[in-house]
Amino acid sequence: MEIMSNSCNKSKILIFGGTGYFGKHVVRASTSFGHPTFVFVRPATAQMPPSSLQLRGEFRSLGVTLVQGELEEHEKMVSVLKQVDIVISVLPVSAVPDQIKIIDAIIAAGNIKRFLPSEFGCEMDRITPPLPPFEALLEKKKKIRRLIEASTIPYTFVSSNCCAAYFVNFLLHPHDPRPDIVVYGTGEAKAVLNWEQDIAKYTIKVANDPRTRNRVVIYRPPGNIISQNELISSWEKKTGRRFEKACRVRIT
Ligand SMILES: NC(=O)c1ccc[n+]([C@@H]2O[C@H](COP(=O)([O-])OP(=O)(O)OC[C@H]3O[C@@H](n4cnc5c(N)ncnc54)[C@H](OP(=O)(O)O)[C@@H]3O)[C@@H](O)[C@H]2O)c1
Repeated sequence: MEIMSNSCNKSKILIFGGTGYFGKHVVRASTSFGHPTFVFVRPATAQMPPSSLQLRGEFRSLGVTLVQGELEEHEKMVSVLKQVDIVISVLPVSAVPDQIKIIDAIIAAGNIKRFLPSEFGCEMDRITPPLPPFEALLEKKKKIRRLIEASTIPYTFVSSNCCAAYFVNFLLHPHDPRPDIVVYGTGEAKAVLNWEQDIAKYTIKVANDPRTRNRVVIYRPPGNIISQNELISSWEKKTGRRFEKACRVRIT
């Protein structure tokens, strides 16, 4: 393999945003495949929820190296980057533009064999123009994509489509005891729903695969392409419940 540099023959992976909704799965996947794993986190504060502190504890028990710092600390980032091979960013949408600081640090470090920026959604260069709020979000991510392409940093862009656990809340609202489900449009439109843990595992594989260098990888397993109506039918079979389909937007 192209990216294997250390004595234990596994690439070292640094993750930004690793304590987040999606990032925690990436950290767990990285350690489960035996990669020496580093997570760049902002310093703990008194206001931090206990669940975040617990997660940091879990990471330490998995052998993860937590590096406390801010994205503004260029020298610190460069020195951490020099110790690793691969960088995966799972920073939130609000911090997507800040990834320019990671790019600058990767260029200064000069040793990174692969960078995966925070994308993990639809394939932004192929989608027909979406509604304005989503378009604005994609524009931020596209800007970072173009910057990386224009640099010499080896990259992989991951289009993981919809996080299944995240979207099932909207498509089935499984924790809602009411007997009706709001159906979007006819309910026939298909979506690709990929489970967060699977996305995370594929991402670690993809980051280490020489074939995916400077490529876009789209996670689109045929069995995961499903409409809301099909999802509701499966849910009815699984739970033995029967749902009314309400074709309206519920305002609560
Ligand atoms: N396709 C889908 O269905 C789907 C669903 C969800 C997310 N996503 C994508 O996955 C990516 C990650 O999103 P997420 O929701 O998992 O993120 P998140 O949970 O909101 O945040 C991730 C972590 O980033 C750190 N962070 C937050 N603000 C920061 C800032 N200003 N500067 C530096 N670090 C900051 C925090 O860690 P610390 O405080 O520990 O530093 C936080 O735990 C995004 O690109 C998002 O679009 C896709």
